[in-house]
Amino acid sequence: MDSQPKLRVLFSRQEIAATVSRLATEISQDYHDKYPLLISILKGSFMFLADLIRHLDFPLEVDFIGLASYGKGRHTSGKIKVVQSLRSPIKDREVLVIEDIVDTGLTTAFCLDYLRQKKPASLKLCVLTDKPSRRQVPVTIDYLGFTVPNKFLVGYGLDWDEKFRNLPDICFIEDED
Ligand code: IMP
Repeated sequence: MDSQPKLRVLFSRQEIAATVSRLATEISQDYHDKYPLLISILKGSFMFLADLIRHLDFPLEVDFIGLASYGKGRHTSGKIKVVQSLRSPIKDREVLVIEDIVDTGLTTAFCLDYLRQKKPASLKLCVLTDKPSRRQVPVTIDYLGFTVPNKFLVGYGLDWDEKFRNLPDICFIEDED
């Protein structure tokens, strides 16, 4: 077994809950009468989606898309591909993409381009954490939870090599001395 990295809490479960609630209020104002399709980018946004939609008290649908960008560990390969397709047609739908983190922006930009080609009526983006210091391509975020420093985050769905998704707080991995 590898030695465990040192983790420090960046956002507690209480701070996350307050932010998810605030995002849900913003989304409700814009989508309450639009019967939107929320598309969650797997795997990292599953927990965020699950908490968010419990606050949305209007008709909506949920779908999932699987994109692979990172190899093992903390470094992106830069290559993105669809590894799990949508089940729902999105033509003429009001689509809201739910993402856990925007880092370089490559994954999200790829996803939005891919979805835009399917001609939704509208396409917006809700992101829990944004790491703007690492951006390589521009991404417009319509609903943002937290702006985060250039640290590797884990917990609340975010993983490091598939581990730590189950942590209820968002933590960062402390640099080794
Ligand atoms: P991007 O394409 O560089 O914006 O990265 C997007 C994807 O990389 C996210 O959906 C995550 O899967 C992963 N990622 C980027 N930064 C982090 C991080 O700090 N922790 C965990 N995963 C990350």
